[in-house]
Amino acid sequence: MKNILFVSSECVPFIKTGGLADVVGSLPKCFDKKEYDVRVFLPKYSCMKEQYKNALQYVCHFYMDFAGKSQYVGVLETEYDGVKFYFLDNEYYFTGDRPYTEHHWDIEKFMYFDRAVLSALPVIGFRPQVIHCHDWQTGLIPVYLHDSFAGGEFYQGIKSVMTIHNLKFQGNDGVPRFKWLSGLSDYYFSIDKLRTEQDGNMLKGGLVYADAITTVSQTYAYEIQTPFFGERLDGLMRARQHDLRGIVNGIDYNEFDPAKDMMINQKYDKKTVFKKKINNKRALQTELGLELDDNRFLVGIVSRLTDQKGFDLIAYMMENICQQNVQVVVLGTGDYKYEDMFRYFAGKYPNKVSANIYYSEEMAHKIYASCDAFLMPSLFEPCGLSQLMALRYGTVPIVRETGGLKDTVYPYNIFDNTGTGFSFANYNAHEMYNTLMYAKYIYEDKREDWNGIVFRGMEQDFSWQTSALKYKEMYDWLIGG
Ligand code: GLC
Repeated sequence: MKNILFVSSECVPFIKTGGLADVVGSLPKCFDKKEYDVRVFLPKYSCMKEQYKNALQYVCHFYMDFAGKSQYVGVLETEYDGVKFYFLDNEYYFTGDRPYTEHHWDIEKFMYFDRAVLSALPVIGFRPQVIHCHDWQTGLIPVYLHDSFAGGEFYQGIKSVMTIHNLKFQGNDGVPRFKWLSGLSDYYFSIDKLRTEQDGNMLKGGLVYADAITTVSQTYAYEIQTPFFGERLDGLMRARQHDLRGIVNGIDYNEFDPAKDMMINQKYDKKTVFKKKINNKRALQTELGLELDDNRFLVGIVSRLTDQKGFDLIAYMMENICQQNVQVVVLGTGDYKYEDMFRYFAGKYPNKVSANIYYSEEMAHKIYASCDAFLMPSLFEPCGLSQLMALRYGTVPIVRETGGLKDTVYPYNIFDNTGTGFSFANYNAHEMYNTLMYAKYIYEDKREDWNGIVFRGMEQDFSWQTSALKYKEMYDWLIGG
């Protein structure tokens, strides 16, 4: 039996702020239980839903020296969808109405988490051969495995993997505070180890000390070796390029299945999409107070409303877009300037724009199942999951060619009638607008071609099958080597 431990700061269905949670929630169940025992360690946040907190069972507790104090470490567990989840309990650190709050506090919280997870393993009696760490919050685990935890027999030979879901977030803090909290010696704070300029950097620690590094698409794996995408770690990424793999994310094909989806009005599959999907469009137009019109090009957006996702391009062209025969539905929260921008246009063009400034899984499913196209003009996108959901629901993605968007959406070619979506190369508002208008033209004037795009999109396979195999290969290689 091969023991693998995932460590993460979020995971569906327990706690989610972004795509990281979807990945950690869906990948562990994809491994054959006869060969792999995959378990997951998460913080027990007080802001988790009661139903999940109530399902947790006490396992053990102990005290650990951290930040000059002896601190409580509790471990609880539950099983979900056949996977065992451990929750680290400490009410001093994991209270509050959100998983992430103030920057310095988050650093201290996740340093505590990293040390506590490693300390808990012998107590719960689970010895992983590989610890798979996700994003900066878990970056000190590979470092500790080389440092304070290197001596003991239990930890010897444990391999670590660091997965980058987004290189922009690194978890850094001034060296003195970082050193004190982490308990790491001066040795670690040179520029070839944990230091970036004046700061200690948790993700960098993980990237220097992990036995293997992965990120969530092949293109992003190349991009982060360049200065623009590298977020000041491009040199390190180049130095470790032989230990770096790009493995594209999948989505849970049971949860996202238009033929079985309980949240949508009308179920359909690729055989019935052209007859039945229109019922969802009508239902959504009605629910959101948009003009009822079968042939109006309906564009969906489900996203965090932040700069990363390309909303400055949309803001710049929104007036022009609204002058056209289109409808736009947006769902999500984020930067106030984008929230207000969408509210403004929804007020000005109530028949055309629907601004849903909140998050709801149900509304997200309805949008995927109702729209004609899905817009995602990201500045950078390590993988992106929404375009995969859109493809699965026969909603044509319109994306910028970056990261995972480039790897998963094949641009329509009018001459040989191929492709699963539309894309543009440069981060330029008019280029985005022209691509959107080109898609609208194909939708309106070449409906057969359009339907071909929809159908090919639905035929793609972005379930976890292929990608989970690549993780398996990596685990096996680490364990064997
Ligand atoms: C981050 C990235 C996104 C990726 C997700 C899951 O949220 O921004 O592109 O899909 O992680 O890996």
